[in-house]
Amino acid sequence: MKTKIHGIAGMVALLTISTFWMSTILVELFGSHDAIALVKRLIIWGMCLLIPSLIATGISGGLLGKENKSELSRRKMKRMPIIALNGLFILLPSAIVLNYLASNGAYSNTFYLVQSLELIAGAVNLFLITANTKDGFQLTKHPTNS
Ligand code: HEM
Repeated sequence: MKTKIHGIAGMVALLTISTFWMSTILVELFGSHDAIALVKRLIIWGMCLLIPSLIATGISGGLLGKENKSELSRRKMKRMPIIALNGLFILLPSAIVLNYLASNGAYSNTFYLVQSLELIAGAVNLFLITANTKDGFQLTKHPTNS
């Protein structure tokens, strides 16, 4: 049950953050200012799914990590604080600032600077969450894997 909740929450987090990242790139490249503002607003709503799913993944992962002390499990545990801090201190504030600027039509240098920071931080989290997903399935198949 714990593993199921953990796996589902982890996959929701992965799908949400990859959707944010891809839709940001696509709308910045091909969308109008109105479309950009809409995506920024939807990302704020999407945070209501991403944040609880990451919290659930982290808590259930922490419990699973107490039972599984393999090298893969320890590697997953080490990635989690980076994912959480990056999300809390870079991705969430960036999403709020970008939504504010876009909803006021302020596509200034500040907007593109914050947008670049958000894309880089998002790519880091996407990479780490993907690595944790891959290692998670490996651990389910071979619990004592190193
Ligand atoms: C964003 C972070 C994480 C994601 C996306 C993630 C994802 C996953 C996924 C998809 C599975 C496979 C579940 C299944 O087979 O149904 C899994 C299993 C597992 N995860 Fe995570 N995980 C994350 C964080 C953590 C953390 C911090 C730990 C702590 C060590 C952890 C420990 C484990 C363990 C031990 C398993 C194997 C459970 C078992 O089969 O008994 N995970 N994870």
